[in-house]
Amino acid sequence: MFITFEGSDGSGKTTQIHLLADHLKAAGRTVLSTREPGGTRIGDGIRQLLLDLAHTEMHARAETLLFNAARAQIVAEVIRPAIAAGQIVLCDRFADSTLAYQGYGHRQDIAQLKRLIAYATGGLRPDLTLYLDLPPEDGIRRNRGRADGDWNRLDAQELSFYQRVETGYRRLIAQEPQRWTVIDANRPRDEVHQDIIRAVQRKLPAPAPSRSK
Ligand code: TYD
Repeated sequence: MFITFEGSDGSGKTTQIHLLADHLKAAGRTVLSTREPGGTRIGDGIRQLLLDLAHTEMHARAETLLFNAARAQIVAEVIRPAIAAGQIVLCDRFADSTLAYQGYGHRQDIAQLKRLIAYATGGLRPDLTLYLDLPPEDGIRRNRGRADGDWNRLDAQELSFYQRVETGYRRLIAQEPQRWTVIDANRPRDEVHQDIIRAVQRKLPAPAPSRSK
């Protein structure tokens, strides 16, 4: 089972993934949580290249390929083996981020991006994608208010960029409504968490029946 989280920057994905992972583990499931870009030694190296504020000259195509190189590695090294071992894999961003950010945000050709993503992932697609829905203005405000000084090159975009990203997500959701669940992220953390649990439970196969009787 492969579950991905998408949404604007600052929508609370990371916190919600932790809460969901704890909930699923307490219910006896084996869970692997990871994130893009990163999640592997090679991916973490690529992440540094992508986030470095000094890399102002990075071309949108180079950026796209780097995200997808990191993705190819994490799929092969982490995600496919975990799914094959029967784990629930939770991933903070996946291929939809490339379509939303590089495609709609940076106006790269969507059909070409889809081919590139299929190549990088070998065709792996999420069973469920949770969209943490927050107006881009609120996400930017939350992000800039972060105490950790975690500001990076990818955060340095105009509001209009984030608006295009949001429009992109809405199109992706409309194209595949059965895969996506939209969660209103502008609410208390625990309410968001409960909605996420419900969405996951609808998709989860029941645990294997006990053979003890
Ligand atoms: P990150 O610091 O991981 O944070 P968050 O997910 O909380 O925003 O930043 C990842 C950034 O990378 C984010 O701005 C979205 C962007 N991104 C892309 O542009 N394309 C991609 O394919 C991926 C995976 C992420």
